[in-house]
Amino acid sequence: MDDGTVTGLYRAALAGRLSRRDVLRRATALGLSTPAIAALLAACGGGGAGEPTATTAGGGTVVTPTAGRTPAGSPAASPGASPAGSPTAGMTYTMDTPPEVFNADAASQYRGQTITYYGDTVGIGGELDQALAQKFTEATGITINIVPKPQSATENYATYLRLFQAQSPDMDVMMIDVIWPGAFAPHLLDLTEAFAEEAAQHYQTIIENNTIDGKLVAIPWFADFGMLYYRTDLLDKYGFSSPPQTWDELEEMARTIVEGEQGANPNFGGFVFQGNAYEGLTCNALEWLASTGGGRLMDDQGNVTVNNPEAIATLNRVRGWIGTICPRGVTSYQEEDSRNVFQGGNAAFLRNWPYVYALATAADSPVAGQVGVAPLPAAAGQPHVGTVGGWQLAVSRYSRVPEAAAEFVRYMTSPQVQSYRAQVGSFVPTIPSVAAEEPVIKAMPFLAEMEDVERVTRPSRQTGEQYNQVSTAVFQGVNAILNGQDAAQVVPQMAQQIERAAS
Ligand code: GLC
Repeated sequence: MDDGTVTGLYRAALAGRLSRRDVLRRATALGLSTPAIAALLAACGGGGAGEPTATTAGGGTVVTPTAGRTPAGSPAASPGASPAGSPTAGMTYTMDTPPEVFNADAASQYRGQTITYYGDTVGIGGELDQALAQKFTEATGITINIVPKPQSATENYATYLRLFQAQSPDMDVMMIDVIWPGAFAPHLLDLTEAFAEEAAQHYQTIIENNTIDGKLVAIPWFADFGMLYYRTDLLDKYGFSSPPQTWDELEEMARTIVEGEQGANPNFGGFVFQGNAYEGLTCNALEWLASTGGGRLMDDQGNVTVNNPEAIATLNRVRGWIGTICPRGVTSYQEEDSRNVFQGGNAAFLRNWPYVYALATAADSPVAGQVGVAPLPAAAGQPHVGTVGGWQLAVSRYSRVPEAAAEFVRYMTSPQVQSYRAQVGSFVPTIPSVAAEEPVIKAMPFLAEMEDVERVTRPSRQTGEQYNQVSTAVFQGVNAILNGQDAAQVVPQMAQQIERAAS
């Protein structure tokens, strides 16, 4: 039996119950030396660790190259690297010290291969990708070709759809939005077996979200939820002792602060959010509705429920913010536009995701030391809510280097890397034990407070491939309202479009 001990692993290898890759991975996890690993692999049958292997994955045959490859466990693999859930837990990281590549031995089998990775472009995400990819390459000899994905989730979806429909091998690993596993599952590699141990570490709700027809198609990377950023100095200056609990309070505070500040700074807007016609606006709109009695878009049975008087009243109220407590430009803002306005000192309130925290509070931020975080406001008697977002990493079925790609995903989604990304970029871990690490709590002091906020999910599981059309009906309709149309006219049409798209 492989009972987690070296002997157990040896017996399992001898009995042929484990693949060579599993043996390598577990041996690395047990901290075995190179000769011990070689012995285990010999027990496994087949040749030494340096021999080429042919496997079928993603619908194609993959032969790993032999040229220039270093045997597993060689000095090229990071020595002393630690496995998932190991003594590295609780380590402090800075941007320039990404975690060791704990699976370097397993990954080094694919030395010489190149992975094309569609990576982050929002906030500090791209820089972290660079640092991590470089670390991975140094330890494994696998090249990572980083392609910056479109910033807008809506454009990003269209880009992937085109690549998938063409069965393109030019994208191996990619970031997958929490709303996409249903739509993209047919194009993604089934990682259930390869990530069985890792999957158990994550929040099971995300694993369930990423499991389509019994297949785990994407590995959780970071979680997201909407929250309110505010300027502590401006609240103080205008005599407000705490952040707004209700939307009424937010309106009142924003109005007072805008009136006071605009004389000196004509660019000053009170409240900014993501009002452009794209996925981000759907997230904002769901928060406005769920926190004011407007409900959800549809119920659990898939009946569209958005056409109700509370929803209409709320959306018309938001329309009234534009050009008063919000700058007119907000109807074209995405995440980074709104962050830049707030971080540049031109807004008192910002609705955004947790990644903003690290950036807005960094030493070089113009508003450093003046940023507070709170749950989004709600109408009196209604719950504080935040839309659930988040990203996963997945491997394309059309990849020609699926094994190297999976090892890259294993490193990137590991507890160590999640801890690094949480500490350096305030990306919310999807592994509870990482969220509980001291340095993570220190870097993201708001995590505990946000736990009580009610999470609003988008209906992507119910609607699968149709979700994009459903969301398009929502963000186009809501954007038209923000630009002046009456919600009483727009919402009934929007409801019909959602019904048609979802049926
Ligand atoms: C964030 C969220 C993602 C959402 C997107 C909308 O990236 O994590 O789930 O779809 O914002 O702009």
